[in-house]
Amino acid sequence: MSENIIGMKRTHRAGTLNASNIGEEVVLMGWVQNYRNLGSLLFIDLRDVSGICQVYFGEDCDKEIREKANTLRMEFVIAVRGTVQKRGGSINPNLATGEIEVLVSELRILSKSETPPFAIEENSDANDALRLKYRYLDLRRPDMQEALKLRHRVAKIARDYYDENGFYEIETPMLTKSTPEGARDYLVPSRVHPNKFYALPQSPQLYKQLLMLSGMDRYVQITKCFRDEDLRADRQPEFTQIDLEMSFVEADDVMEMNEGFMKKLFKEVLDIDLKTPFVKMPYSEAMERFGSDKPDLRFGYEIKDISDVVAKSEFKVFAGALENGGSVRCIKIDAIDGKQAFSRKEIDSLGEFVKTYGAKGLAFMIIEENEIRSSITKFLTEAEIKGIVDRVEAKPGDEILIVADKNKVVFDSLGALRCEAAKRLDVIDKDRYELLWVVDFPLLEYDEEENRYVAMHHPFTMPKDEDIELLDKEPGKVRAKAYDLVINGCEAGGGSIRIFNSDLQQKMFETLGFSKEDAWERFGFLMGAFKYGTPPHGGMAYGLDRLVMLLAKKDSIRDVIAFPKVQNASELMTEAPNVVDKKQLDELYISLVSPEKTEE
Ligand code: AMO
Ligand code: AMP
Repeated sequence: MSENIIGMKRTHRAGTLNASNIGEEVVLMGWVQNYRNLGSLLFIDLRDVSGICQVYFGEDCDKEIREKANTLRMEFVIAVRGTVQKRGGSINPNLATGEIEVLVSELRILSKSETPPFAIEENSDANDALRLKYRYLDLRRPDMQEALKLRHRVAKIARDYYDENGFYEIETPMLTKSTPEGARDYLVPSRVHPNKFYALPQSPQLYKQLLMLSGMDRYVQITKCFRDEDLRADRQPEFTQIDLEMSFVEADDVMEMNEGFMKKLFKEVLDIDLKTPFVKMPYSEAMERFGSDKPDLRFGYEIKDISDVVAKSEFKVFAGALENGGSVRCIKIDAIDGKQAFSRKEIDSLGEFVKTYGAKGLAFMIIEENEIRSSITKFLTEAEIKGIVDRVEAKPGDEILIVADKNKVVFDSLGALRCEAAKRLDVIDKDRYELLWVVDFPLLEYDEEENRYVAMHHPFTMPKDEDIELLDKEPGKVRAKAYDLVINGCEAGGGSIRIFNSDLQQKMFETLGFSKEDAWERFGFLMGAFKYGTPPHGGMAYGLDRLVMLLAKKDSIRDVIAFPKVQNASELMTEAPNVVDKKQLDELYISLVSPEKTEE
């Protein structure tokens, strides 16, 4: 049975003790991380949120205390009173408290623990499913606790920074009307309004715009957003945004304000001095050079267009792609220490890799001292081969990887290939951070399935002034006043200047194929509001989970979320989502159909 802690009051956190505390009487409370019983001596590593401290039961230890101490096992929760002394044994340079130990004079067992399903230690090799089922134990691991502490700091720095700059934190509703961020909504049935539903917010987009209309001038909120979309390493169905909006600004003002935040964040968290202003790269350039609207600038392997070089080629694959309005492009993988970075076999495996991005093949040219080994030299003329080698300035040992297809496939596959190659060759410096703005996004993109234009960002994004006249004629060419903040190839945040005039907003909805009635039905409250004096405004939102992941150098946002969901959007610990009582459903006027039936 656990004893109560009355009579003992914690004086210190375990990890904070050091040589300056020698001689002090302290009370520590925490978990048994480890115990070493050497017969006459017993050592316990006591762990709490601040770290680990060795506690020591010596030869002179009271018999009763010693007997109790002998029963201690991993993860028991204990309280000890004792005196800080210099370690008798060798000091441990790996521990903050490595020079000292606490000689115990009083011990209480506050609660016992069964043997945990996996060891609570840094870099645990327990499998993910087990860790997530017992997430509360997983969160005892120091690296998980560090991630949560970092997350707290990032949120705090954000609140402080925006507060210093005149932003007000204002909460917006969770039970809302569906907003058009582009993903599927999570719906919540209404009991009071049978057969009607709230949507959980995909973002506070419309509310924050209305707050600008209300005259709040600058808004910030750290808030949950919900999107029913396929999960990836950097996507969760519920995630957190640092969301903000500003009045009377243009895109440059929003970017400058947020560069200030990044500067402060990187300085305080990583002691890195970021240089401002960040690079602003137009979307078209990002695609041409990196095949991605979130380019990773920590390594090269830039994409080069060789369409002109092979324009007259008889090679069917190249000629076919060009005839279809596509292109032929390549990346050069530089030799490492004068040698080819990839073997033939590895190039074949990269060929399989690009197929997952729709490429039909991956042609290669391996440059050697006196010859070029290639899957396609037999199809090309000398001049074409020389043209390609010159275009990428290839030297012996370099390898050229080529894709010919529709532009989208070429960019997707080469964009992914350059990242994959960098990963496989381990050329990425994990301590380096490359931040940039990607700007001048297209306002609209054509949705082949729906046969209409859809908003690339969201329908409230302002077109660039000089492109507004193209809205009627060539909607696909209109660029937006939108910007994404990209860090090491990850979209850390994004936003735009908004349309603030109801006529232009109406026109935008028309271009997106909404009838006037549809548009008013869904967004009437916004367009109506715009009639009452709207300040020009714009803003952005960061994915807080992604920011913390990047700062913590983790590969998945799951590692920086206390209770994340897995691939199929369930939570392994609570087993949500779950069936509910029929009574609950009846109250909501909901009857269930079997899944087989809905799949028909
Ligand atoms: P956007 O949809 O680009 O913009 O989202 C902003 C940022 O939120 C993060 N993010 C996600 N993080 C984890 N899991 C997800 N499923 C997920 N989806 C998005 C990304 C992204 O950059 N209302 C606009 C912002 C604005 O215009 O002001 C918006 O939500 O880091
Ligand atoms: P094939 O004529 O199909 O044997 O192709 C010859 C070479 O061209 C092989 O190395 C293929 O991988 C490559 N290849 C095929 N299709 C493409 C393509 N769309 N883009 C680039 N290379 C391709």
